[in-house]
Amino acid sequence: MPTLNWIGKDAVVNHDKEVPFRLLKKEKFSSVGNSQNLVIHGDNLEALKALMPFYAGKVKCIYIDPPYNTGNEGWVYNDKVNSPKIRKWLGKVVGRDLEDLCRHDKWLCMMYPRVKLLKDLLSDDGAIFVSIDDVEQSNLRALLDDIFGEDNFITNVIWEKNYSPRNDAKYFSASHDFILIYAKSKSKWNRNLLLRTEKQNKYYKFDDNDGRGLWRPDNVLVKTFSESGVFGIKNPNTGETLYPPRGSCYRFSAERAKQLLVENKFYFGKDGMGKPQLKRYLSEVKQGVVPQTIWRYEEVGHNQTGKNELNKLVGMNVFDSPKPVSLIKHILQIATDKNDLVLDSFAGSGTTGHAVLDLNKEDSGDRKFILVEMEDSVAKDVTAQRIKRAIKQYDYKDGFEYCELSKPLFDEKGQIENTCSFDQFATYIYFTETQTNIDPAKVSGNYIGEYAETEYYLIYKEKSENVLSKLFLKMLRKTDGVKVIYADKCLLDDDTLEKHNIIFKQIPYEVKIY
Ligand SMILES: C[S@@+](CC[C@H](N)C(=O)[O-])C[C@H]1O[C@@H](n2cnc3c(N)ncnc32)[C@H](O)[C@@H]1O
Repeated sequence: MPTLNWIGKDAVVNHDKEVPFRLLKKEKFSSVGNSQNLVIHGDNLEALKALMPFYAGKVKCIYIDPPYNTGNEGWVYNDKVNSPKIRKWLGKVVGRDLEDLCRHDKWLCMMYPRVKLLKDLLSDDGAIFVSIDDVEQSNLRALLDDIFGEDNFITNVIWEKNYSPRNDAKYFSASHDFILIYAKSKSKWNRNLLLRTEKQNKYYKFDDNDGRGLWRPDNVLVKTFSESGVFGIKNPNTGETLYPPRGSCYRFSAERAKQLLVENKFYFGKDGMGKPQLKRYLSEVKQGVVPQTIWRYEEVGHNQTGKNELNKLVGMNVFDSPKPVSLIKHILQIATDKNDLVLDSFAGSGTTGHAVLDLNKEDSGDRKFILVEMEDSVAKDVTAQRIKRAIKQYDYKDGFEYCELSKPLFDEKGQIENTCSFDQFATYIYFTETQTNIDPAKVSGNYIGEYAETEYYLIYKEKSENVLSKLFLKMLRKTDGVKVIYADKCLLDDDTLEKHNIIFKQIPYEVKIY
């Protein structure tokens, strides 16, 4: 398989492992109610890392709409991978090579470690949808092949984002964007059928009032020729025997045709004097529709739809290029069930959160969303504000918690940051030990969970010394399994540790860096 290479790749391929683990701090003031929905302000590289102990392998559907790298720096956000934050980050990670990087190299450097983290957050039966245009489409496809594997490529959808031509376009007026879709594991991913639309149902307008419901006339001929399909059908109204045209055949056998006649399933035209057609009943067709790869604006909205929706809620020109809610709902209909978790780590105006709430209202679902937005001027005043107003305006039942990225877990002296709570630390320890997420319902006192016949304990209180002493032995569960206990200090001798099957791990030195 051809491999993707660019200047700066070496510096970023494993960079996701070096990103410090940060704590999340909830801000009550900017939140709406208590909810598992999250809007996080911060660079998604750090935010995704912070989410990992809680959500690794749990996200069913990721939608991202990263900067397209069109070169537009005058937008509310920077579309050229040149915002001060990303420039600083690139300088730090890529170092001296930065000057040699072309704009595509920079974009790939920005995307690669972030998409790697996104893959880890996806559930085994989940999928990622990525919006892009011609500038980076080919690079994005190669990058996703590299990270997800080309076998997990599902399709490249065309979204008709404009319907009228722009006459000032130099060569062609762009009418579409792409949405690349990859599954984490293609064999485990199931797409939903889309609901039949009124437009699709409108041809089913005939009714015999015999309880069989609406039907439409359908072709009786089939393309592949078979001798057994050549016979005559007698029109009962005229007595005329009707054969298929020369070289073609009926799609059923003579035997079946007799049965269809008895069941009154042939239609011989308005006056009953014509050639046979088949009555295709609405109740017989699939109750859903297989999604297609071209998404027309009439179906899912266009650029201006997104702008109008945002204008209505937050005002004019607060954000460039918001996607239409109906576009994201279309994705959610294909890729989520009612209780799934949805993630958008380039959240912009928060369309994905809005779409989740709207679909939940429509189908009584309980999907949850996590949004991440980096720009200081966008996260609170546009992303969170838009969702807050949408909740009020459309009477959505759920809310969201607004979070800031807080300090790294390890401070500059390598100690555990002293604002870190027991729950946060336990979640981190459990994840680094087991690569799975803690079950808060199982946490009890210092016991934080069990995995592969090993029990985990954490002795930790902020700003105090945390000691494993004889007293603690009474708190251990009476089981034979290995017990891994994290604490600052251990006062037990080796024999006692062995007798109780204890492995002591000293905080902070033996806390794994994730
Ligand atoms: C194309 S816009 C997304 C628009 C969004 N789909 C909507 O409907 O409003 C891309 C967004 O990603 C944000 N962004 C860019 N780099 C980011 C990063 N490293 N972390 C988080 N957000 C980032 C930008 O600030 C911008 O708001």
